[in-house]
Amino acid sequence: MSAPNKSYDPVEVEALKPAEIERMRDEAVAAFAAAGDLEALAHAKTAHAGGTSPLSLANREIGALPPQAKAEAGKRVGQARGAVNKALAARQVELEAERDTRVLVEEAVDVTLPYDRVPAGARHPLTTLMERIADIFTAMGYAVADGPEVEAEWYNFDALNFVPDHPARQMQDTFFVQGPDGTSGDESGVVLRTHTSPVQARAMLDREPPVYVICPGRVYRTDELDATHTPVFHQVELLAVDEGLTMADLKGTLDHMVQELFGGEGMKTRLRPNFFPFTEPSAEMDMVCYVCRGESVGNPDRPCRTCGSEGWIELGGCGMVNPKVLVACGVDPEKYSGFAFGFGIERMLMFRHNVEDMRDMVEGDVRFTRPFGMEI
Ligand code: PHE
Repeated sequence: MSAPNKSYDPVEVEALKPAEIERMRDEAVAAFAAAGDLEALAHAKTAHAGGTSPLSLANREIGALPPQAKAEAGKRVGQARGAVNKALAARQVELEAERDTRVLVEEAVDVTLPYDRVPAGARHPLTTLMERIADIFTAMGYAVADGPEVEAEWYNFDALNFVPDHPARQMQDTFFVQGPDGTSGDESGVVLRTHTSPVQARAMLDREPPVYVICPGRVYRTDELDATHTPVFHQVELLAVDEGLTMADLKGTLDHMVQELFGGEGMKTRLRPNFFPFTEPSAEMDMVCYVCRGESVGNPDRPCRTCGSEGWIELGGCGMVNPKVLVACGVDPEKYSGFAFGFGIERMLMFRHNVEDMRDMVEGDVRFTRPFGMEI
């Protein structure tokens, strides 16, 4: 920049003439007013308030003025720039408000409109519960085994030590697909399996011991459908065959399962003597009530609806695999022993999730399944 020129008159400098400054200011203000949207305003800002705008350029001229002229020119340009910035800010606010109002209208969503998307289905809680139980055991090294639902009578009964006239055959009401005295002349009929225990026989025949399998699956009995019965239901069967297995292993396995399923401290099981042809000794297994954890027993102030203040909930059957079954399935009972248990999944779903009517589980209404979430 050149040295101040004493004879330099700002009013004579074209760009600093009051009229010229006013014109620049008015042009800027008019350009802002004319900007129809924020983008146009940004352009007008660059042109009229940016570093190369006429007023900024004029401002630079001030430095070259003689000292006595600087103040007046500075004031004039400063006022003009102040007015320009104020007009810019005001228009900015106006245009932003306009944009916000427009966005609210243009992007409004009418949440009351009916929607046409097909709602996603939900996995059935029986499936997810069976998978969850299988997961507990696969984590312990068990394999998941399965077998046919239309089963040879031999696997469903004979291999499991139900002799032909054994009263235990009447324990379960069986759907026969083909009678035992069928035209084939075959001794064994074909049934819809009444329990998952035939998978025990299949697993032992298919595998060399040690055998550790868990088998979730569908089973059939001639029950009428009502709130607590269904002719088609699900069981989970567990079988372990190894050297030196005892009832203590069975008990520990059951305790571990209920702790994993119902969570934490105080969950345990108890065994009550019972009879199954395929286990000896056999037991009925109960688990501590997962709601009151046994505290309602003898405590009228704290009744428990879940277990009827009994403290225990019946789970299913279990026992040590009958040596006769081991023999029928090609396993040496002198060397190996085994334990097994089986229980109903519908019942467990009922008390685990307070489902009061079993029919809800078979009707397939997604309104029932959805609240269980997308558990996988
Ligand atoms: N299969 C038996 C039932 O359906 C349950 C059970 C399984 C019992 C394994 C003992 C061992 O009732």
